[in-house]
Amino acid sequence: MKYTKDDLAFLKKRKTKQHTNTETLKGKTCVVSGATSGVGLEIIKQLARSGADIVMVCRNKDKAEKIKSELLKEHNTQIDIVTSDFSLLDEVRKAADIICQKYDTVDVLINSAGLHSTKRRLTADGNELVFQVNHIASFLFTMLLLDKLKNSEQGRIIQVNSEGHRFGGLNLSDLNWEKRHYTGLRAYGASKTAQIMMVITLADKLKNTNITINAMHPGGVRTNIGNNNGLLYRTWQRAVIWHFLKDPVISGDALYYLAAAPELEKTTGRYFFLTSDEKPMQHALDVTTRALIWDKSLELAGITSLKMP
Ligand SMILES: NC(=O)c1ccc[n+]([C@@H]2O[C@H](COP(=O)([O-])OP(=O)(O)OC[C@H]3O[C@@H](n4cnc5c(N)ncnc54)[C@H](OP(=O)(O)O)[C@@H]3O)[C@@H](O)[C@H]2O)c1
Repeated sequence: MKYTKDDLAFLKKRKTKQHTNTETLKGKTCVVSGATSGVGLEIIKQLARSGADIVMVCRNKDKAEKIKSELLKEHNTQIDIVTSDFSLLDEVRKAADIICQKYDTVDVLINSAGLHSTKRRLTADGNELVFQVNHIASFLFTMLLLDKLKNSEQGRIIQVNSEGHRFGGLNLSDLNWEKRHYTGLRAYGASKTAQIMMVITLADKLKNTNITINAMHPGGVRTNIGNNNGLLYRTWQRAVIWHFLKDPVISGDALYYLAAAPELEKTTGRYFFLTSDEKPMQHALDVTTRALIWDKSLELAGITSLKMP
């Protein structure tokens, strides 16, 4: 892959001071996937502090219950738990259905559920696991909640993306890595590239509505990502990579800013490195691939009739 000067411009901005925001989200309904660990857990701590009504979307109910009871000891807030394994698209549909039945309005949707796998695995839906959890499931979940976001004064969607999109790997004729050698970084890059493309396309389709959608890289932070991989990977991660990573509290701060800052009310279709607005890699901006991946994502998510708000 060729990197242009533009593609590497983000390196200069890395030291930009993070914006913060203390605007309250009290009483706002905030749905967060992947809320049981890492980045997702950090944002729900901030939301709880703010008094937001939180919907934790998680695959592990016991883990979620423990987090909920810890947060409720300190904060006077509402926390709902909806279980959903994003590697099963039917569970994504069920979770969205539960939320739609219970809530008239969703003010903020943050999709943080995600993984990195060193081995190729297929889901029961027939998709490569990382592509499904990171992209297709979050795409489907988002599409199913659009009507509820429309009921908000200003609905905000934030897709937790990654600088890993720069690794590339998106090949529309081989999304399941049947024809190519699978590498974890490139498969991860493919899922995050598809997700940025969806953010840009959806922002465009929602431009005359009250809903914004943006992608963000949460920083290189110490979380459980990669723990699903083998002992060798985990040892290398803890012994080497860990020292270069930051406290995930910065991810929570940045997500809170993106969710609450009044100055971002109309900002949509952007890619943020924490709170710094940046240009994604050139390949993520390719218009032809973007149109094709939109159609393909609809197909893989099983969305047959598209009714935009
Ligand atoms: N950490 C970083 O430096 C970094 C950098 C760039 C981007 N990101 C992105 O940040 C997001 C969060 O990752 P993290 O670093 O916070 O990792 P993490 O600590 O492993 O958290 C991942 C979350 O996703 C959930 N999850 C994983 N597979 C799932 C599935 N099949 N169904 C439902 N939920 C599932 C996990 O649930 P369990 O608690 O049950 O495991 C957990 O809540 C990801 O999208 C990742 O790509 C992270």
